[in-house]
Amino acid sequence: MSLHILAPAKLNLFLTIMGRREDGYHLLDSLFVFVGLADGITVEASETLSFALSGPFATNLECGDDNIVMKAAAVLRREACIADGARICLDKHIPLAAGLGGGSADAAAVLCALNDHWRIGWPLERLEPLAARLGADVPACLAGKPVMARGIGEHLTPAPAMPDCAILLVNPGIATPTPQVFKAFRSMNPEIALRAIPPLPARFEDLTALVETIGPRGNDLLPAAIAVTPMIAEVLAALTMLPGAAHAGLCGSGATCFALFESAAAATRAAQSLRNVHPSWWSWSGTWAV
Ligand code: C5P
Repeated sequence: MSLHILAPAKLNLFLTIMGRREDGYHLLDSLFVFVGLADGITVEASETLSFALSGPFATNLECGDDNIVMKAAAVLRREACIADGARICLDKHIPLAAGLGGGSADAAAVLCALNDHWRIGWPLERLEPLAARLGADVPACLAGKPVMARGIGEHLTPAPAMPDCAILLVNPGIATPTPQVFKAFRSMNPEIALRAIPPLPARFEDLTALVETIGPRGNDLLPAAIAVTPMIAEVLAALTMLPGAAHAGLCGSGATCFALFESAAAATRAAQSLRNVHPSWWSWSGTWAV
């Protein structure tokens, strides 16, 4: 018997840094959403815990116990006192160190898949503390639907559903590790000023309404991400100029940038015209995760 689930990539439609904890982690106010680009996780019965990789972004990943997939499996196995093993296969489609939360998505998917496979049957609330131990974005990935994340990412509240629209993701192929971006943010912002945050509307009627909310908020990590990977400024400028792009922004800590379009056709056309000019940039277009 094998079980297959998807681990969708996340975007932060806006990301505001509210403060810094004593341990150096940053306090956020961020709208997390999930897109159709996803890794695949398959689990099968096995006496031992093992891990295999496939897919277009598997090459630079290691399958050792240090991988967040194995950490997620090990923590659930220990906490739920499971003696069985499992063979876990990760089909990697989300670019690495790209601001799309791929590792966090994989960890959340492994918790869910093994919770079923080992017939543990814990509700999401019981998996959440384990998710938070694995990484700041893992609880939001466990939710897998639009959420407002506060604290370092562990305080989640439901966010409005997303309007129909298409998303284009573009990555220039320069790995941009999250810790480096937060380090640059810290040196550029030794103090973080208190800020009033406008409440989210109850719903987003359409793409225009969504852009009215997310446009002014932006992503506070952008200057730090550009300091680490200057090419981000070029990607964002190229996305902003694409015909039909209603909004362009940085995904998490980068280097992936996103643009929003009214229709799939407009996003596909934009992706094609960008590929003509920048054939080495990775891109994906589609819509929200289902
Ligand atoms: O929790 P995670 O391992 O995904 O975070 C990677 C790094 O990003 C942390 O080591 C920390 O330097 C930084 N970070 C942060 N504040 C957050 C999330 C991550 O400073 N809310």
